[in-house]
Order: sequence, then C-alpha cells, then structure tokens
Amino acid sequence: MQKSYEVAVIGGGIIGSAIAYYLAKEQVDVAVLEEGQIGLKATSAAAGMLGAHSELENEVKAFFSFARYSQSLYSVLKEELYELSGIDLGFRKGGILKLAFSKRDKEKLAMVLAQPTVTWLEPEEVRNLEQEVAPNILGAAYIEEDINVLPARVCQAFAKGAQLYGASIVEHTKVLRIKKQQDMFQIETTKELIKAKRIVIASGVWSTPFFRQLGLQYEMIPVKGECIAVESAHFVLKHTIFHDKYYIVPRNNGELVIGATMQENDWSEQVSLNGVETLIQKAKALFPAIGQMNIKASWSGLRPQTFNQKPFIGYHPEDNAILFATGHYRNGVLLAPATGEMIASLILRRDVKQEWVEEFQVGGLFRR
Ligand code: FAD
Ligand code: GLY
Repeated sequence: MQKSYEVAVIGGGIIGSAIAYYLAKEQVDVAVLEEGQIGLKATSAAAGMLGAHSELENEVKAFFSFARYSQSLYSVLKEELYELSGIDLGFRKGGILKLAFSKRDKEKLAMVLAQPTVTWLEPEEVRNLEQEVAPNILGAAYIEEDINVLPARVCQAFAKGAQLYGASIVEHTKVLRIKKQQDMFQIETTKELIKAKRIVIASGVWSTPFFRQLGLQYEMIPVKGECIAVESAHFVLKHTIFHDKYYIVPRNNGELVIGATMQENDWSEQVSLNGVETLIQKAKALFPAIGQMNIKASWSGLRPQTFNQKPFIGYHPEDNAILFATGHYRNGVLLAPATGEMIASLILRRDVKQEWVEEFQVGGLFRR
C-alpha cells in the first residue's frame, strides 16, 4: 500500500532532522526522506560553532534575535536530547576570541562589541586566556556565549529523538518529483511513491530543482568549505580562535578543527591542496604553535547560499501546504533548533514572531 504521511520533509540534514523532531514531539505523523544517510552532507562538514555574535556582519535585528534564540534552545536540547536518545551533543563551553590584528579589524568588530554579552580584551588579557595566540594581535572580542557542539551528533540526536516520538526516517530514498493532486502531494522517489498532506523542502544546496518544480525562481548557490582536523598531546586550546572567515575550534576529544575555505559556485566535494595550504597558513598566523600538530582528517562540504545569504523559512507564497527551510549558508547548526521549532509552529498554526516570518519569508514566484 502507498505510504501516506501528514508531513514529508525532504532532506535529512540538521535542518530536516530538527523539523522532524519538533513535529514528532507534537504527535504529527512526519517522515524524513533522505537521499543518502542522515546528516552526512553539509551538516557533517560543519565546525559546530553556535556563532550568533561571531557571524554577525550586517545589522539585522530579526536575524540576530532568531540566532540568539536558537543558541539558547541548545541549553535545553543538550539535556532533553541526551535523556531521550542517549546521544551527547558535544556541547563545549569556552566561547570565541575574535582576533583583531589592525585598527581596521577592530573597527569591523564594532557591531559585535556593541552587544552587552561581548567584551574587548587587550593583548595581555587575551594571552591570559590563550598563551600561544599570535604575538602581533591588537586585542580580541571575547564572546563567551558562542559555544560549540558536534553537528553530526546533534543531527543524529534530532533524528533519533524524532523516531522515538514516532517519526519515520527513510534513508537511501531520493525525491525525484513532487506533484499536487487534490489536497495531497504525490512524491515520486527512487524507491516508491509516497503521499503527504504537507511537504517541507529542507534539501540544503540541492533545493533548486524543488524551487523550480514548485514555481519559484530561486537558485541555491554552493559555497564550498574545506576543513582539517589536527591533534597533539601537548597543546590545549580552551577557546575558539576566529579571524576573518577562518577559525580554530577545539573539540571535546582534544582535536582542533581548522576551517574553513569559501569557494562560491564550486560543486566539487574533494579537499584540494590549495585549500589545505590556505588553512595551514591561516591557522599558523592565528596560533603559531599549531604547526607542530599532526593532521588527523580533512573534509569538505557545500554551504547552501541564497541570493541574500539569509535562509528561507516559511510558506510557499501561494500554498501554505508547502514550506521551505533551506539556505542556512554559514549558520545551519546555529539556526537548526529555532528553524525546526518555527516550521513546526507554522504547520500547527501556532504564533511565530512576525519579525521572523518577514525576515525569512519566501517570495519569487514565476509568472505562470
Ligand atoms: P545538509 O546537511 O546538506 O542536508 C541536506 C540533505 O538533503 C542532505 O543530506 C541531502 O542528501 C538531502 N537531499 C538533497 N536532495 C535530496 C533529494 N532530492 N531527496 C532526498 N534527500 C535529498 N554552520 C554553523 O552553524 N556553525 C558552523 O560552525 C558551521 N561550520 C561550517 C563549516 C563548513 C566547512 C561548512 C561547509 C558549513 C558550515 N556550517 C556551519 C554551515 C552548516 O553546515 C549548514 O548551514 C547546514 O549543515 C545546512 O544544513 P541542511 O540540513 O540544510 O543541509
Ligand atoms: N560558520 C562557519 C563556516 O561556515 O565556515
């Protein structure tokens, strides 16, 4: 018999899995349809920073308040998901030191430094926190609340939690086409035909075919990011070190993640020598002692970027049975909890802050 669900979520990265979790928790019959395995794409490539402040570049109040809200949900989810799924999210305190090497760098930090939760530290104060930091710094913005997690674990925990609340996680099932007949969607996949009353597009950088099929003119642009992980028994980094778009993130297992390159319109998923060279040079400039550490792993992933670098989270402009949660670009890990909760609230017709609805709304219809 053809399988039928209340909601089908297309894509099982951290965004699709978070949506399934928040829906299943409210007893909604939801399925996640995932082409490969849960969480193996952009989600697994992420460093895991919850960078509400550190990624703040333009003064967009609604975006910042959404990011801070999502960040705050993690302190609840840490216990909630562990109790439910037994998966530890790898929650790591310490925060981010956003370094300034010049007056220009410091000026660029003005918006971050205007937040009451952020402090300016002079070079000696930075060195008190991290002895081995680059000697030529002018200071740093210390962002204690931008902690980090293990993204693949968060995704697994959302998916397992969703399953325990009754969701179906359907892996190795690629969605090919979606058609609406009367009030039901017919979802053609590589395995079977599936029916659903509502659909949520959460396919990350691979969302463009669905925009097209559903009459929207958007295109998702890949921004490839490469990372390397290094380890050493001799160095302990307590804080994430961040400068420009590059960072060194300490993880609970003693590894340091060095990230990340930014290559727009590159769909390749291999790690290039140029990428590794850039990362090593940048990491040594921030934290010279890192040169003595051993490379443990390297990987890359495709960030899903929209035309304005903000995600789409909301209804299709003509059909409230179609929702989008895609284009989270550099901040999908940070924004996953608030995105999952917001999509669930929209489906359940609960109140969502109007400023968030407007900030992330989907427009862009084709003329048909
Ligand atoms: P994905 O994880 O890519 O998931 C989309 C899923 O959809 C995939 O599993 C795919 O197989 C599936 N899919 C696609 N098409 C179909 C189809 N037709 N049928 C079925 N399934 C389909 N964010 C942060 O917040 N903090 C960070 O520190 C951070 N660091 C990053 C570092 C790097 C190097 C990169 C590349 C990204 C980083 N990000 C970070 C960004 C973050 O990884 C992304 O924003 C986030 O993972 C997007 O999640 P997603 O679920 O939308 O996409
Ligand atoms: N947010 C970090 C990155 O995308 O590289």
